[in-house]
Amino acid sequence: MQLKYRLLEGKTAVVTGGARGIGKAIALKLALQGANVAITDLAYDDNAKATEAELAALGVQGRAYASNAAKYEDTQNVVNEIIHDFGRIDILVNNAGITKDGALKRMTEDQWDAVIAVNLKSVFNFTKAVQPVMWKQSAGSIINMSSVVGVSGNANQANYSASKAGIIGFTKSAAKEFGTRNIRCNAIAPGFIETEMTATLPEEVRKSWNDKIPLHRAGSTDDVANVALFLASELSSYVTGQVINVCGGMNT
Ligand code: NAI
Repeated sequence: MQLKYRLLEGKTAVVTGGARGIGKAIALKLALQGANVAITDLAYDDNAKATEAELAALGVQGRAYASNAAKYEDTQNVVNEIIHDFGRIDILVNNAGITKDGALKRMTEDQWDAVIAVNLKSVFNFTKAVQPVMWKQSAGSIINMSSVVGVSGNANQANYSASKAGIIGFTKSAAKEFGTRNIRCNAIAPGFIETEMTATLPEEVRKSWNDKIPLHRAGSTDDVANVALFLASELSSYVTGQVINVCGGMNT
């Protein structure tokens, strides 16, 4: 369907971990609908520069910032910089995430702490930093990247599953706190999506995932970005506090 207008004209979006993978796909999808987009990632590297160039090619204001989402101070600073450069923030996509998988028996404290800091604390950091500007605007959409394993758990991913389950509790709480100011907060729970994060999985693991998925394929980054666009736009104006599974039917 060809829309005659763009859904996010005049809006500004911030996407964490936006240099590649799902974050990049979301950044470009929002830009295609007219949004100006700031992406953050650990470094201003070739991935970040490439995404920045692709955003500019879509005719919107697009800029990449180096910032560690797990760090509170870094986050305050980068959000101030983004507000200075863009003037407003309407959409926040908390997407930055890592895995450090291992059986609980062998999982180290470092593996636990790193995953909780990058996946869960980052959501607190960015929501805290962005919330005052959304509060002033009396509008905003916050989208948090959870995972199906945050809903159902997964062997060898206790740290990752706990971080993603934590994001769901955070999302529902923020939705209840921010609702009076028309700030919505929702989570996306992707299943098995083809990105560099999943590219390292052995072939037999990939096959066993595919066999479990009713749609019999891994998801694409675009499959997730389409749902993010829905949640970012006014198409979802009465949707808050929800977790939307994007998993080919795996988690029903
Ligand atoms: P990816 O590894 O391809 O991309 C993640 C991006 O986040 C990278 O650019 C990385 O540099 C950045 N990043 C990592 N640590 C960061 C930090 N401390 N501060 C700022 N940026 C940081 O991963 P992918 O697959 O695109 O995943 C994106 C999100 O989706 C993650 O939260 C992940 O947990 C989640 N997810 C992915 C699934 C999949 O199958 N690929 C399934 C379910 C959830």
